[in-house]
Amino acid sequence: MGRLAITLNPAFKKAKKSNARYRILYGGAGSGKSHYVAQETLLNMLSSRNYSYLIVRKTGKSIRNSVFRLLAEMISEMELHSLFRINKTEMTITCVTGSSLITSGLDDVEKLKSVANINRIWVEEASEITEKDFNQLDLRMRGQSKIGYQMTLTFNPISEMHWLKKKFFDVGMQSSFILKTTYLDNRFLDEQYINTLKELERQDEQYYRIYALGEWGTVGNMIYSNWSKEDLSDIKESFDNIYNGLDFGFADDPTAYVRVHLDNKHKKIYIIDEFAKSGLHIDQIARKLDKIMTNEIVTCDSSEPRSIADLRRHGIKAIGAKKGAGSVEHGIRWIQGYQIIVDETCTNTIKELSSYKWKEDKDGQTIPKPEDKNNHLLDALRYALESEMTQNKPKIKLFKQGL
Ligand SMILES: Nc1ncnc2c1ncn2[C@@H]1O[C@H](COP(=O)(O)OP(=O)(O)O)[C@@H](O)[C@H]1O
Ligand SMILES: [Mg+2]
Repeated sequence: MGRLAITLNPAFKKAKKSNARYRILYGGAGSGKSHYVAQETLLNMLSSRNYSYLIVRKTGKSIRNSVFRLLAEMISEMELHSLFRINKTEMTITCVTGSSLITSGLDDVEKLKSVANINRIWVEEASEITEKDFNQLDLRMRGQSKIGYQMTLTFNPISEMHWLKKKFFDVGMQSSFILKTTYLDNRFLDEQYINTLKELERQDEQYYRIYALGEWGTVGNMIYSNWSKEDLSDIKESFDNIYNGLDFGFADDPTAYVRVHLDNKHKKIYIIDEFAKSGLHIDQIARKLDKIMTNEIVTCDSSEPRSIADLRRHGIKAIGAKKGAGSVEHGIRWIQGYQIIVDETCTNTIKELSSYKWKEDKDGQTIPKPEDKNNHLLDALRYALESEMTQNKPKIKLFKQGL
């Protein structure tokens, strides 16, 4: 028998007592959310034979490397190998009491279909999943269960526009328990972690608010909130209707390229490839483009006709964007009318999407001019879609501030 050396973070005491159907454990990074729920899961399984857990994240790969690994480590640290059986291939754990758990990615549809009689669900990094995913999980918690049903959602409050905010905080769900924690609630954090969070404050205020203070990310004067990231690796090869855009670098600014699939019918823009690098010469840019594009057109920043001509000499079908007065604002509004889905590998684009802002006047009022930063890939995105913008007049969605 192991030592059962488990110490729970006191901040989660209330969560332990809650019988609510939905438990919302959100807040900053490093508050101990994942550790707490993992510990509770193992303790519950040891205490009774009735627990049947389904633990999910958006993808199978991500859950294997996070929760499944954490549970296995805990069992090992507590020397409880004799009481739990771990199946690495199936990513399942069973306890001698008869309780069991299955971890799975929501991408593993077959596996999810095959699991039956679940009475506890834990969604780790719940902000990654869609409301539709949530509803499908919710449907699994019905019928007879000796110990009732409970779903626990752990996440960082990335954006006030998120469906989680609307569902549980604004509208309010019946039978939900909400607990916010931050690193200050975690008595096990080391100094290094705390310093990293403090460093964040200097680097990125928005990230600091979300990941250190656990406050909802504000859209405020963000230009794009109509986006989400996804793993598009399985589908992006099949996309047609491709558009390419390029913004030339200058001094420290990177040369930035995006590759886009447009789904006009569903009003979706898929960003499937990118590069952003400063100091690139034309022949290097041409080589990169040649590798990615298949005899397609790339629409470029027209302020550098010489670079465009050079690209053409290298066999790239480069054309200049028309731009013109008001084209930046017009392009932004057009793009705001779409849902943007970015492949998770396009980290530079993701960074820009989460930091591209409108300017503020000296009183802090937002003015309808974008800040001239975090806009390299996003300019390239406008160039890429310019031909579409002039064909399909935008149905302008009213911006929050009435811009
Ligand atoms: N009960 C605990 N016992 C020991 N260490 C803990 C405990 N809870 C949290 N920690 C430590 O705090 C760190 C952050 O906890 P974690 O659960 O990953 O936070 P969150 O999921 O809120 O981001 C962990 O890596 C671990 O080192
Ligand atoms: Mg966590």
